[in-house]
Amino acid sequence: MARSPKDVSAHFSDVAEVYHDLRTTDQEPIISIKNQLGHLLYKPSINAADIGCGNGRYSLLLPQHLGDRLRLTFADKNRCMLNMLTKRLDHTCSSEVIQSSAECIPVCEKSFDFATAFNAVHHFKLKDFLAEMARILKDGGLLFIYTRTQEQNRCNIWGKYFPDFCKKETRLWKERDFCRVVAQTSQFALQDSVYFTYRRVSSLERLIEQAEGHHYSTFWLYSDKSFREALDRFQQNITAQFTDPAKIQWTDENTLFVLKKIREAR
Ligand SMILES: C[S@@+](CC[C@H](N)C(=O)[O-])C[C@H]1O[C@@H](n2cnc3c(N)ncnc32)[C@H](O)[C@@H]1O
Repeated sequence: MARSPKDVSAHFSDVAEVYHDLRTTDQEPIISIKNQLGHLLYKPSINAADIGCGNGRYSLLLPQHLGDRLRLTFADKNRCMLNMLTKRLDHTCSSEVIQSSAECIPVCEKSFDFATAFNAVHHFKLKDFLAEMARILKDGGLLFIYTRTQEQNRCNIWGKYFPDFCKKETRLWKERDFCRVVAQTSQFALQDSVYFTYRRVSSLERLIEQAEGHHYSTFWLYSDKSFREALDRFQQNITAQFTDPAKIQWTDENTLFVLKKIREAR
């Protein structure tokens, strides 16, 4: 389908069916989240929300690590993504699925012990999102934001070899700017920043398949013509840099920001 550059709003509807197969999912952030939950792990029930949950690629890993005491609310504004999530829900975990924007979620205040947002925060209005999280989290509740920063985006296979990938992807947060916005809110304290490094190996064929499937919404920021030209150049760059097209190696990096809701003064 021909699409004008920068029109990414329909992207998630287009990729919903194949999104899970196109992206790489890592267990490490889930294990890190579990390790940070502290006293919550001893509660008989834990209420959590995943915002911008997509098809639940990450949040559906949470019950595997936290068991059936977890009650999960999934929120995303895209109906197609939520339809895929609903198909994948196995109902071993108590759950609710809400179609909603991250900045205004129809739930009561102080509903959740913790909330997560995986690979989605750069799509949100950050200040509004943080204000909404402060409303729906209990006092002392934790907000886990898993993302790649602009700095990290430069180091991956796309940032290094796909023309204009970083120039076009300005929605991702620079770490400093993100931390500054958090510091400006009076509602959260940045408790930790956990950095992840993943050694990847893939074939050129698979990388082309991912780019053509627009596994990153960044690719919608190209016109059809400029995308084809950039993809050709990417193949040339990879072929020049790596001797074996079946074994392209690189490193992906991500950050897990851990925010704690500051207790309200009584
Ligand atoms: C890159 S996907 C990530 C999905 C999932 N968290 C994952 O890691 O696979 C971003 C998701 O955020 C959703 N999204 C974007 N902007 C949103 C907003 N303002 N409110 C709620 N969801 C939003 C999209 O519909 C999409 O499902």
